[in-house]
Amino acid sequence: MIALNGGAGAQSCTLCHGSRLQGGIAPPLAGRSPTMLVRQLAAFASGARNDAGAAPMRVVAAKLKQREIIDVAAYAATLRP
Ligand code: HEC
Repeated sequence: MIALNGGAGAQSCTLCHGSRLQGGIAPPLAGRSPTMLVRQLAAFASGARNDAGAAPMRVVAAKLKQREIIDVAAYAATLRP
């Protein structure tokens, strides 16, 4: 599973976003809109989202395949916030 094991070489999301993606050193993903999650991941990957805190996510998102982005967003959205 991408959230736990990382995608194609990406670090596991739980490392920074919390064991149930409820938030950790990074913002919570659990229970959030899957459309929003996909859009943010695409924006990190393309560089459209390039704020000061975005550097770690740009590395992660660049390694994810589109299929993995859709899967992880769908999964995170099902989790209890
Ligand atoms: C090395 C730590 C780290 C890892 C690993 C990581 N993230 Fe993040 N993530 C962050 C940080 C830090 C932010 C906040 C970025 C900012 O302030 O712009 C963030 C933000 C996000 C956001 C935007 C949230 C928002 O509120 O706008 C999404 C979506 C996201 N991450 C998804 C993921 C997914 C999916 C994975 C696993 C494939 C993952 N992240 C792995 C550190 C990480």
